[in-house]
Amino acid sequence: MLPTIAREDDIVVMIDQRKLPAQEIYVKCKTAAEVAKAIKTMVIRGAPAIGVAAAMGIALGMRKTTATGAKKFATEFYRTCDLMAATRPTAVNLFWAIDRMKRSFAEGQKAGESVDQLKDRLDREADLIHDEDVQSCRAMGAFGAAVVPADARILTHCNAGALATAGYGTALGVIRGAIEAGKRVAVFADETRPFLQGARLTAWELMRDGIDTTIITDNMSGSLMRAGRVDLVVVGADRIAANGDTANKIGTYTVAVLAREHQIPFYVAAPLSTIDLNTPDGSHIPIEERHAREVTHVKTTQLAPAGARVWNPAFDVTPHHLIAGIITERGIFRAPYTESLKRAFE
Ligand code: MRU
Repeated sequence: MLPTIAREDDIVVMIDQRKLPAQEIYVKCKTAAEVAKAIKTMVIRGAPAIGVAAAMGIALGMRKTTATGAKKFATEFYRTCDLMAATRPTAVNLFWAIDRMKRSFAEGQKAGESVDQLKDRLDREADLIHDEDVQSCRAMGAFGAAVVPADARILTHCNAGALATAGYGTALGVIRGAIEAGKRVAVFADETRPFLQGARLTAWELMRDGIDTTIITDNMSGSLMRAGRVDLVVVGADRIAANGDTANKIGTYTVAVLAREHQIPFYVAAPLSTIDLNTPDGSHIPIEERHAREVTHVKTTQLAPAGARVWNPAFDVTPHHLIAGIITERGIFRAPYTESLKRAFE
């Protein structure tokens, strides 16, 4: 399985997703600040992977801190949590993972644990978050396989694969699960402007697994659907509101509208850590806006006139009525989502 991220004694190692597929380089983060920077600059990206990185970054920061007294250690812990929380705003998995680390820390404090015991506890919690994410993806894959026809042409957007998780993937986990269940799957990977997660990352990891993959640019999906060449759409999510509205990579909404027009089922695959029952609907989801340079340039090559005004939202919201089902590690949930998603947590 792809090594997206790993925690070692005094470093966190991650594959540099900005460099793929041209180079397979591993970044070694020695401090919590370096992990935070890696999240912000997209060395690591994808909602579940960001959550795992934040948890490992917190554990690393506390393992390395010079604070020895319980009070100073606690102050440093909360400061490190804030550092991670300020990296990217949309993926709720980030805040979910930080909250889990805070809960574990509070339990340790309540039990009167020493600073060394607290450090061990934070390492264990981060490892647990990592391992549970892989298990969730595999469960999602098994549930999701049921909605995939025996001979399926599946369109996906962005990269919701092993690279975006601790391993196996959410949307790509469903594709892997379907193949493991004996189905024949051909994938269309949207290029996913402007960061090109589809062309660079999805194509790379699927081809590595020998899965039939065709890249299209984002503006080709309508034509492809109209030609009857897509049976199913499956995408990941960065945050799912209580009513099922789903934030995912910019362009996902366009794909969902096109899928509806062509009567193609549009599924979202995401772990429960992506579902945010505290956000009532999509209008309350914070949407990250990223630097203009991602749009005006490809690497160092400038495409647009210097000084051109740019709008670069990293995500959009797909309204729940366009979603055929939300595939999770607890099964597939369908409309009305306000009720079904609440049940998912029971
Ligand atoms: O900006 P990114 O690359 O972090 O955005 C990633 C996505 O939008 C993914 O589809 C989403 O996080 C789900 S990953 C399993």
